[in-house]
Amino acid sequence: MTLINSPFFIPEAQLKKAGSFATLFGNDHPLALEIGCGIGDFIVQIAARHPEQNFIAIDIFNQGCRQTCTRIEESGLANILMMRIEARYLMHQYLGRNSLSALYINCPDPWPKKRQRKRRLMNREFIDLVLFCLKDGGELNFSTDFADYGESVGELLSLDQRFENLQQQPYTHDLADYPVSKYMRRFLDLGQPIYLCRYRKKPGLEIPLPQLNKGFRLRWPSEDH
Ligand SMILES: C[S@@+](CC[C@H](N)C(=O)[O-])C[C@H]1O[C@@H](n2cnc3c(N)ncnc32)[C@H](O)[C@@H]1O
Repeated sequence: MTLINSPFFIPEAQLKKAGSFATLFGNDHPLALEIGCGIGDFIVQIAARHPEQNFIAIDIFNQGCRQTCTRIEESGLANILMMRIEARYLMHQYLGRNSLSALYINCPDPWPKKRQRKRRLMNREFIDLVLFCLKDGGELNFSTDFADYGESVGELLSLDQRFENLQQQPYTHDLADYPVSKYMRRFLDLGQPIYLCRYRKKPGLEIPLPQLNKGFRLRWPSEDH
């Protein structure tokens, strides 16, 4: 594991010490999160379009974090910070209620085998956590190349009365101006459709902090974290 020595890389201890992302960014602009940013090609595109927002890119793999930091440095953007941290842990421990104006999840690990599906990030429990973190009107953006994943997330979200659908259908293959990530590009180049779900949290909901059960890649809550 190579040490990441970038001013844009925030170790967990630094966030804990600062107390908030607003302190780390030096302003209280609306906050957006990308989970599983890979090598960072999506985050630099979306952050360049929204200089009025702050963006956190997270991934659990060191190599991706390092490459994303390089992309951020090359972009010259000052509204992105990178963390190596598990998504549910960050959201549960550090992002408070109504803290996010947008959440982006692109081509998460699809776990295609039936017996592996319980490892998928997107499920009812996670959606409760997303709703807890999103502000009124905050956006949940999810894309996948995997048909079964796209269809099931589209169904879950379109049936959830706490969301307003920003599209006509539970999911769409029409990306319009949505930025394309490395994995999305890979599948588009193979002629395969991307399933895109874009939803908005309805205003006035009281979402309690959900209890998290241990999940794949989520060691916490446990004694040894
Ligand atoms: C298939 S890659 C997609 C990368 C990128 N989003 C793209 O579309 O090009 C999935 C990424 O999610 C990261 N990841 C998987 N589970 C995660 C979790 N629970 N928390 C944070 N990152 C996660 C992986 O390390 C990997 O980089």
